[in-house]
Amino acid sequence: MGSGKQTTVTDSPCASADAGLFRFLPDIQVIELLMAIFIFVTIRCLRQGRRQGLVVLPVVALGTDPGCLRPGLPEIPFAKAFEDATQATLIRFITPTAIWKSLRYFDLGSEGWLRRSIAVVDEFAYEVIRTRREELSSGEQTSTARSDLLTVFTKLRDEDGTPYSDKFLRDVCVNFILAGRDTSSVALAWFFWLLNRHPEVEKRILGEIRKITEGRGGDEDGELVFKPEEVKRMEYLHAALSEALRLYPSVPVDHKEAVEDDVFPDGTVLKKGTKVIYAIFSMGRMESIWGKDCRDYKPERWLKDGRFMSESAYKFTAFNGGPRLCLGKDFAYYQMKFVAASILRRYHVKVMENHPVVPKLALTMYMKYGLKVTLCARDGTKVVGK
Ligand code: HEM
Repeated sequence: MGSGKQTTVTDSPCASADAGLFRFLPDIQVIELLMAIFIFVTIRCLRQGRRQGLVVLPVVALGTDPGCLRPGLPEIPFAKAFEDATQATLIRFITPTAIWKSLRYFDLGSEGWLRRSIAVVDEFAYEVIRTRREELSSGEQTSTARSDLLTVFTKLRDEDGTPYSDKFLRDVCVNFILAGRDTSSVALAWFFWLLNRHPEVEKRILGEIRKITEGRGGDEDGELVFKPEEVKRMEYLHAALSEALRLYPSVPVDHKEAVEDDVFPDGTVLKKGTKVIYAIFSMGRMESIWGKDCRDYKPERWLKDGRFMSESAYKFTAFNGGPRLCLGKDFAYYQMKFVAASILRRYHVKVMENHPVVPKLALTMYMKYGLKVTLCARDGTKVVGK
């Protein structure tokens, strides 16, 4: 994977991830690979009528698939523009106001880049909104059967009985995709990377999955698909994902602005309009918060008598805290646990040696060079994609 070369399907138990289903992959990053597997698993679940929780964000929000899974996983302008916009937005956060405003005025540098990226995202969203409105007004069967966020909001009216504007619909959908799409897939990429360095954790997760599914046969087609109550019982996996998010939070810094004068509990005075940036990444690694072993990956710190114990949202800030706590937290855990357990049960995800793994400076903590992996089938016979 990542070499760009095409490999033929082999019957080796430990095949490179560019074999089989993935043989057309060019220079793919693991985020894309995991999203691919995620969507693959998702489609299976949807086909089997298991809609609860496990759905893909662009499909949930817009009711449309941007095409990220087309053969060869081509670069999709919408997805690329999304990622570029998050990178350019972070640059605005750390650039003095006078400078970024000048750049915006002259349409230069990161601001020009941001405007162009947003234009691509908007164009895609507006096109979907236009088509959806047409579908709904012509009463097409497909639209009446839809239950995505866009369809729901398009049918709704505001307090005055007026339909929501295209701009409002665009903002709802783009916001939802931004909040939920890359956050979960990025978290999974860091999780699998950490797991590779901590085989003992992987072993415990497998033990937990085995115990939970003991005595249960496969589903109708012979493949085991986890039930919601089984996913809920995966407490060690929950701890392992939380620990990954503590060290590698999908949103590494967050940013607020005081709407009125305020005073922090420690006496710090905030004037109206003051911007506050808090570093979730750093807070997850502070000895004063997490103790001497703050830099170690230890899912056990989340367990008490074998049960998962959640931490205060003001200590574990990966999902923010207070009134603006992530609305999708439970959904995110459910889908990450479902995907991680489904992959781990079938494959050992082996990270390519010497591949540089470093965070990228963006609103979402992508891996700068992606993650190159090999998927090794656990049953020793199957190859990815077969
Ligand atoms: C590992 C996955 C996720 C992480 C780490 C995460 C993290 C966060 C953080 C830090 C915020 C606060 C942003 C701010 O201060 O403005 C937030 C807000 C939000 N998240 Fe998530 N998120 C995740 C997944 C999801 C998913 C899957 C969804 C949707 C299904 C979602 C929906 C939202 C929404 C709607 C908000 C805005 C809440 C508000 O402002 O009232 N998130 N998330």
